[in-house]
Amino acid sequence: MLDGMKDLLGLRDLSAEQIEKILETAKAMKFVLSQKNKKTAHLLGKSVVTLFYENSTRTRLSFELASKYLGGFSSGVSVGVSSVAKGETLIDTVRTIDAMGTDAIVIRHSMSGAAHLAAKNARASVINAGDGMNEHPTQALLDMFTMKEKKGGIKGLKVAIVGDIAHSRVARSNIWGLTKLGAKVSLGGPLTLIPPEIECMGVKVYGSVHEAIIDADVVMGLRIQTERQKSGLFPTIGEYSRFFGIDEKRLSLARPDALLLHPGPVNRGVELSSAVVRCPQSLIEEQVTNGVAVRMAVLYLFTKRGEEE
Ligand code: CP
Repeated sequence: MLDGMKDLLGLRDLSAEQIEKILETAKAMKFVLSQKNKKTAHLLGKSVVTLFYENSTRTRLSFELASKYLGGFSSGVSVGVSSVAKGETLIDTVRTIDAMGTDAIVIRHSMSGAAHLAAKNARASVINAGDGMNEHPTQALLDMFTMKEKKGGIKGLKVAIVGDIAHSRVARSNIWGLTKLGAKVSLGGPLTLIPPEIECMGVKVYGSVHEAIIDADVVMGLRIQTERQKSGLFPTIGEYSRFFGIDEKRLSLARPDALLLHPGPVNRGVELSSAVVRCPQSLIEEQVTNGVAVRMAVLYLFTKRGEEE
């Protein structure tokens, strides 16, 4: 089904059937996670290296745990105290890790396209854990897994993605994936944070959050990415929160059974009020659990090239 694909660089590259295959495998992996003894042999004798040039809690730890639960080895490069700090290039670092016989390299980098460059220079499978503003495919897969688990399917769902779309690799991967699986995606937020050309991806754009949220089955808030922003895109954090943040009143515009998702980490009181972070509709912690299952599926499927499906 994945046709011996070596790397997972983005959902742009996957067909609907390939996405469904990963989600279906993640369902079986979630069952493994629910057991007291989580150890399986899916990755026995295989090694996974996490190479993160940007900070992370969820993605890095969940890939490392996923590898261990599947019986593989996992190790992380702490970029700040590695030879990167001595000036080693990305390509040389990737080739060095590859030369150690690694089966998968999970990479996060601030530059869009860094994972593609790594993939061209490694025999190992390269898994994109977030490249600049481009894609974060495993985040979107875990978001879609969560939607499918709760709603029974993705086709026909109205999904509102709101906030800082311009700087969001999570938004781009979700748009690729959700539209391929037949969801109707609406985007809302300040128009300074929504690139006009994004409408070509088959989404509806609104300059307000409330218009995007009306009757949504799923509301996905996004983190304000101050580390990637130029100044002047919105006046102040307080005004952003007042006009574009999701609070209980705005969330009530969605369907009564709407799900609230956020990739984390949350800027509490900015894109989400503290009350909605903990409201019954919020699945933020369940997304984290599902992230481990999805990464187990991805590591398994992408490292078994040439082996029996
Ligand atoms: N959602 C996400 O990528 O979180 P981390 O930055 O903690 O990995």
